[in-house]
Amino acid sequence: MELGFYASSEQLDREAAQRIIDLIHNKPGAILGLATGSTPLGVYEHLISACRQQRVSFRQAVSFNLDEYVGLPSGHSESYRSYMNKMLFRHVDFDAANTHLPDGNAPDLEQECARYDLMIKEAGYPDLQILGLGHNGHIGFNEPDQTLSSRTHVVRLSEQTRHANARFFPSLDEVPTQAITMGVGTILKSKRLLLIVKGSDKADIVHRALTGPITTELPASLLQTHPELTVMMDEDAAVHFNRNYQR
Ligand code: GLP
Repeated sequence: MELGFYASSEQLDREAAQRIIDLIHNKPGAILGLATGSTPLGVYEHLISACRQQRVSFRQAVSFNLDEYVGLPSGHSESYRSYMNKMLFRHVDFDAANTHLPDGNAPDLEQECARYDLMIKEAGYPDLQILGLGHNGHIGFNEPDQTLSSRTHVVRLSEQTRHANARFFPSLDEVPTQAITMGVGTILKSKRLLLIVKGSDKADIVHRALTGPITTELPASLLQTHPELTVMMDEDAAVHFNRNYQR
């Protein structure tokens, strides 16, 4: 596990974006695992400026997002497809056909999960998967539970997650109750994972996830089992870590 501590969120974003740019330079057709939420927004902004300045091109790159809400009408401003188009894809030179998210409106959701998982497998799994962290330790939308489905599956969102995400919707009632998410098994198949954690409200959960027992009750703790895990934290999120901490 590589831990990176950053004095500012801006510094963290720049470094995370640079890792992605370096990957694309080495492998223009790299597969990127992408995430939504507020955490990766700064990283996407850096990627957009790098692309505008012709320091990187995504023309040959492929992306798979972690998750998507179930049942939001197509084109809904808060679907993760809309988020990705708005925050990254439409500002860079990705081929739209190479950007993938689960279809939360598929008539048969189980079949859609199997299709998405197979597509990721056939592509060879992401070279780099970006991850944010939910306040309850979720990754993607893998919520704490006694058991977790390993592959892409439909989840019922916890009330805590619905409340956390209500800030993006006109009211709590409009936050979907279900989502499709890559399973932790699928996530762990990525060649490298980059977990980004910001803010004092995530300080306890990130510390428990990385230093506590590995348990499905804290899905992010399963990331400890990945041999190529990088965690980037801003100062506020890293308060419980000894900065010389190494595993
Ligand atoms: C959301 C997403 C996750 C994200 C997490 C944290 O529900 N499904 O992929 O990492 O919650 O969000 P934020 O970065 O806004 O704190």
